[in-house]
Amino acid sequence: MNKPIDIQLLQPTERFADYQANIAARIDRGAEAKAHDGGARVGISRPHESAALHVAGEATYIDDIPELRGTLHCALGLSPVANGRLQGMDLDVLRALPGVVAVLSAEDIPGSNDCGSIVHDDPILCSGEIRYLGQPVFAVIAQTREVARRVAARAKEVLTIDAAPPVLTPQDAHAKGQYVVPPMHLLRSESTPGGDEQAAVRTAIAAAPHRLKDTLEVGGQEQFYLEGQISYAIPKEGGGMHVHCSTQHPTEMQHLVAHALHLNANEVHVECRRMGGGFGGKESQSGLFACVAAVAAAKLKRPVKLRLDRDDDFMVTGRRHCFWYEYEVGYDDEGRLLGAEITMVSRAGHSADLSGPVMTRALCHFDNAYWLPEVSIHGYSGKTNTQSNTAFRGFGGPQGAIAVENILDTVARRLGRDPLEVRRINFYGKDERNVTPYAQVVTDNIVHELVDQIEVSSDYKARRDAIAAYNAKSPVLKRGIALAPLKFGISFNVPHFNQAGALVHVYNDGSVLVNHGGTEMGQGLNTKVAQVVAHELGVSFECVRATATDTTKVANTSATAASTGADLNGKAAQDAARQIRERLAACAAARHGGDAADVRFANDKVDVAGRTLSFATVVGEAYLDRVQLWSDGFYSTPGLSWNRDTLKGRPFFYFAYGAAVSEVAVDTLTGEWKLLRADILHDAGKSLNPAIDIGQVEGAFIQGMGWLTTEELVWHPQSGKLTTHAPSTYKIPTANDCPPVFNVKLFEGPNFEDSIHRSKAVGEPPLLLPFSVFFAIRDAVSAAGGHKVDPPLRAPATSEAILNAITAVQAGG
Ligand code: MTE
Ligand code: HPA
Ligand code: MOS
Repeated sequence: MNKPIDIQLLQPTERFADYQANIAARIDRGAEAKAHDGGARVGISRPHESAALHVAGEATYIDDIPELRGTLHCALGLSPVANGRLQGMDLDVLRALPGVVAVLSAEDIPGSNDCGSIVHDDPILCSGEIRYLGQPVFAVIAQTREVARRVAARAKEVLTIDAAPPVLTPQDAHAKGQYVVPPMHLLRSESTPGGDEQAAVRTAIAAAPHRLKDTLEVGGQEQFYLEGQISYAIPKEGGGMHVHCSTQHPTEMQHLVAHALHLNANEVHVECRRMGGGFGGKESQSGLFACVAAVAAAKLKRPVKLRLDRDDDFMVTGRRHCFWYEYEVGYDDEGRLLGAEITMVSRAGHSADLSGPVMTRALCHFDNAYWLPEVSIHGYSGKTNTQSNTAFRGFGGPQGAIAVENILDTVARRLGRDPLEVRRINFYGKDERNVTPYAQVVTDNIVHELVDQIEVSSDYKARRDAIAAYNAKSPVLKRGIALAPLKFGISFNVPHFNQAGALVHVYNDGSVLVNHGGTEMGQGLNTKVAQVVAHELGVSFECVRATATDTTKVANTSATAASTGADLNGKAAQDAARQIRERLAACAAARHGGDAADVRFANDKVDVAGRTLSFATVVGEAYLDRVQLWSDGFYSTPGLSWNRDTLKGRPFFYFAYGAAVSEVAVDTLTGEWKLLRADILHDAGKSLNPAIDIGQVEGAFIQGMGWLTTEELVWHPQSGKLTTHAPSTYKIPTANDCPPVFNVKLFEGPNFEDSIHRSKAVGEPPLLLPFSVFFAIRDAVSAAGGHKVDPPLRAPATSEAILNAITAVQAGG
């Protein structure tokens, strides 16, 4: 699939040579040289640490953990109504059914009935106010899962609800002024810093040679992790609770369960070896299931497992926020954006969840790779009677950036220019034109050389001409091409989350165990962290084993999110391993002579005072010398600051960049389309593991393509029922949707910042690469109208949406 591209095409451009010279000057090579070289365990394409277990079906997910004797099964009774008040529940009817052990409601929660992650506005079970269709109202605990599910499905018969009409769309919520968090405003004026910036932005737009005013709609997206939400709660002695939970955030699960059970954090133990995918959907929303399972287990004093089936997972949990935008921009004859004002309204759902930080990230990504001298961005998180929307790969970043990309695409068409040229002219500069709307200075800009490279390697210009020639002769099938760049800010936009801890144990046979606060969801975090530890100790990868994330080992962890897993936990594990290495070096030098600073660890060997010993020998000697062979490690990202009121500061440690070129063919009679070729150049810094990073890039590209094309969420306009709640009606991409030509490369160049081995976070940024697919489709649709009319294409660009847009351009607007 990943065909090598012609090496000729990859000759560095002149700008790239400049870039290399520049970066060489900026990175202190002296310090790098002194750093430990552990026989290069990093920068190597190793298979995922669990690859063999994955393909053999032997990797243990929560539902594979052998069940303890007496385990009971739970299913949730869901509200059949989207808005209203619960008047009564006849749960005794259900309690009397065979196989049912208990039916629990909000009253049975001994502590607080809340699983809100930031704002405490999220009931575990309904306590009167019906907020969305699918809201958990009661929990059935039965001898078997089948009985629990069958009984829970009778919710409609036993609930009496006073129904009210639901508010479903962000526009409706905005019209009513109902939000889950206060509105946010991000303003910056180059001309009037600190003055009336709003007025300055309006003036800049009004004074511009051209103006564009429009609206845009972009849909949400279901995480569709292959392993659904699941928790298995096991009561422990003295009222303690052990929860196996498929979660990106074990510490938060610990806190939520402790609050629900009225326990201290030290009485709750949460563990997760791996998830079958999280994609943000298990950052906060695993909480409800952990709490229900724990409440039931505590009440019945038996182990209780709660595993959702796919439909319930769709009906209960939230997903990527859909956005609605209204904007006005002013631009010059070459397409430079001189002023921009945009209002973004998200569908937050019934509670705050992570909607505030998601909107913050959306506001901070409207700039994408472009300098906006006069900009005013308004964010509203609309409160609706739908599932509470949450984190999903990109976390609002994609929703922010696609708006400016759509604007530039339109500006280019209006001016009759190639969109790539209009994008380029707006790029952030290197030493000027480099301040973001949130006042962070872009100091690591590589977008110019990266885009230059992919323009050449994808043969963009020649293919654009070939497509124009093809379209001129092809009345029904139209082709389109687009190049889309990305810049993505790395760090949690809540500064204190940017910390991590790790534990490294060296056993006296020389084997190594690493435990850290991050979670494994398939992204290869444990592989990367184990590589870092192996590198630091100079041992082979096979000597290092990573264990389950566990709140009894590393405390107060952050969610594995914001793509920071390897950055944070890699640094923390390196810190732990380095301390052990230094103790081993001191011990070896004391025994064998020489200076501890000269002891070298590489390839499972230790060079000390002219002798070469095995790592295990040195470890064994250190044990006899009573040296501590395990260590903790800690890391906090330096230099971050954030003012929540003004939305200014330095929220990001650095930026990751990338660009993709996509070519599509669209059938103008049916709206069907095909991705013919995609070229990607993505910046993972000095990659810790190129194979894993390329996998992340390819996965994010295809996943994001699904978001922008086939994945459509439809809530019934009257009942508020999510009608697309299963793969039969909700279409995610498959392996067959990969383009036949798929050239994926990592940009060569280290992180300017001192990140773990100069790598860059890679989990989320490439989700923006498939913008190129959307704009290629838009280009093909535009061709159907002779490029005279701007296609009114919404996302997702389903065949239906494409056909509507074609109809519009052919009718002349
Ligand atoms: N890759 C796989 N295979 N499965 C996942 O669930 N989640 C994504 C990304 N890549 C995900 C994934 C999201 S949303 C994030 S934030 C990052 O991985 C988290 O992991 P990292 O910080 O270790 O990259
Ligand atoms: N990403 C993911 N989760 C978060 C973030 C973020 O930027 N900020 C707060 N929680
Ligand atoms: Mo990722 S959306 O930050 O879990």
